[in-house]
Amino acid sequence: SYSSSGLIEPDGGKLVDLVVPPGARGARLREAAAMPRVLLSRTDTEWVHVLSEGWASPLAGFMRESEFLQTLHFNCIRVGADGAAVNMSVPIVLAVGDDKKREIGGATSVALVDGTDRPVAILKDIEIYKHNREERIARTWGTTAPGLPYVEEAITNSGKWLIGGDLEVLEPIKYNDGLDQYRLSPSQLREEFARRNADAVFAFQLRNPVHNGHALLMTDTRRRLLEMGYKNPILLLHPLGGYTKADDVPLSWRMKQHEKVLQEGVLNPETTVVAIFPSPMHYAGPTEVQWHAKARINAGANFYIVGRDPAGMSHPIEKRDLYDADHGKKVLSMAPGLKRLNILPFRVAAYDKTQMKMAFFDPSRAQDFLFISGTKMRTLAKNRENPPDGFMCPGGWKVLVDYYDSVAPV
Ligand code: ADX
Repeated sequence: SYSSSGLIEPDGGKLVDLVVPPGARGARLREAAAMPRVLLSRTDTEWVHVLSEGWASPLAGFMRESEFLQTLHFNCIRVGADGAAVNMSVPIVLAVGDDKKREIGGATSVALVDGTDRPVAILKDIEIYKHNREERIARTWGTTAPGLPYVEEAITNSGKWLIGGDLEVLEPIKYNDGLDQYRLSPSQLREEFARRNADAVFAFQLRNPVHNGHALLMTDTRRRLLEMGYKNPILLLHPLGGYTKADDVPLSWRMKQHEKVLQEGVLNPETTVVAIFPSPMHYAGPTEVQWHAKARINAGANFYIVGRDPAGMSHPIEKRDLYDADHGKKVLSMAPGLKRLNILPFRVAAYDKTQMKMAFFDPSRAQDFLFISGTKMRTLAKNRENPPDGFMCPGGWKVLVDYYDSVAPV
C-alpha cells in the first residue's frame, strides 16, 4: 500500500489502471469486434497510454464534457463524494468528425483501433459533445496564433466532436522502438522507489538534452533535501516521450545523451531513476507545467523541480517567448489541487565565464554570464562547433553532434 511505502498518495487516493487483465482480453476483443470503430492517431495512442497507466488519475478515460469544462475553466476536476479538487490543466480528449458521429449513432461503446484496424481499447458509456477548437486552443494556450505545434499536429484538422467515456485498454501500449524498458508506469516507478527505500522523490521533467545548468538544479535539490533531513532522496529524471515539435531532439537521441550524463558522473546513477514520461507535449507553458507536476505525484514524486520557462517556447510569429519565463514557477507554487506537492522553484542558470561553469544567474554581474538558448545549442551542434567548456559533459555533447550529422549529412 502507499502508506507502507511512505510515498505520496496518488490523486484521488488510488492509482487508476485501465489495462484489461489477460484472462478477460479474449472476451473484450470479441465485444470490440461488434462495435463502431474510431481510428487513433499516434498522439491519441499516446493519450491512451497515459490514461491506461494512471498518470492522469483519477481520470479513467477520455474526458466527458463535465471534465473537459472543469479542465478548461478551473484547471482542476472534482472527484469523490466530498468533491475534492485534483489538478487537471490540459484536456485529454478524443475528437471525431461528423461522419463518425453519425456512424456511432446510439451505440454506447466504441472500439478504438490502430492503423491496421486492430482494436487497442474500448470506450464505454460514451458521451459525444461539441469540440469548439478555437475555445479549447485559446483557453489552453492563451493564444490562437497560427503555428502552435500541438495545435497543428492534433487539433486544427481534428473533428468537430469530442467523444468521452470509460477506457478499457486491451493490452499494455508498446512502441517496439528499443525504449519500452524505460517506459515505467506510475505503479512500476512506485515499486522502484520503494525498493530503493526512498524517503523523498524529486522529479525533473525535461524535453531537451541535459546540460550542466539542468544538472545544477538537480544536484542543488538533492543537497537541499539532505539538509532538510532526508536520508535517501531519489531523483526521477523523467524525459517526456510523446509528441514533440520537429526541431526538438528526438527521444532516442535524448535517451543516449542522458545515458552519457549518468556515465560521466554529472548525475549519480545510484540515486537516479531514468524513465520515460509517455505524455505528448503541448508547449502550453504555465498551464501545461501543472499537468507535468500532477502526473509525477501519481508516479510517487513529492518534490518537483521547476526552472526557467517550463514547457515554454518562442512565440510562433513574434520575436519573443510565448510565456513570461517566471510565470511557470509562480503558477505552480500557487496551483489549486497541487498543494501536496512540494514545488522547488529555481532561478535561471547560465554560463558563468569567470568560473567557466553553469551557475545561477547573478544580475549584479550580468556581463559575466552567457545565455546558451536551445536554438543556440542546436546551431553549435549542427555546425560541429563546441560550446564553452563546462556547458555539457563531452560524451553528451558528442551524442548531439552525432544526431545532427545523422540528419544533415555534409
Ligand atoms: S520543458 O519543456 O520540459 O520544461 P526543458 O527540457 O528545456 O523544457 O526544461 C526542463 C526543466 O529545466 C524545466 O523545469 C525548466 O524550467 C528548467 N530549465 C531549463 N533551462 C533552464 C535554465 N537555463 N535555468 C533554469 N532552469 C532551466
